[in-house]
Amino acid sequence: MAVKNELYKCEICGNVVSIVEAGPGELVCCGQEMNILTAKTEDEGKEKHVPVLSVEGDKVVVNVGSIPHPMDETHFIELVQLFDGDELVGEKKIFPGEQPRIEFAANVSNEFKVRALCNVHGLWTS
Ligand SMILES: [Fe+2]
Repeated sequence: MAVKNELYKCEICGNVVSIVEAGPGELVCCGQEMNILTAKTEDEGKEKHVPVLSVEGDKVVVNVGSIPHPMDETHFIELVQLFDGDELVGEKKIFPGEQPRIEFAANVSNEFKVRALCNVHGLWTS
């Protein structure tokens, strides 16, 4: 059973699904169950994937990676999400050729976190 805000990926076609409202059904794509994307903080390549956060006034500035992640046609960050506690309060798709840097206009509590989705290396969190 899916849970709100989880992300799932089809390993055959690459579809990524975000759970807006959870229901009891199983997520199926290309004839098989979709895999949940679990956010990593540690793994090979973490320096290019773990979001680096700073608060500047009423903005949350996110740089994906302490070393900027590549933004090539075949390897790029495709989605950055900002959570305040468990609530999704900001989300932005980015595209090859753009910078892996996002500014969210948001007042957040001290319990905010960010997830970044790499099209090759999966989901990462701060
Ligand atoms: Fe990557």
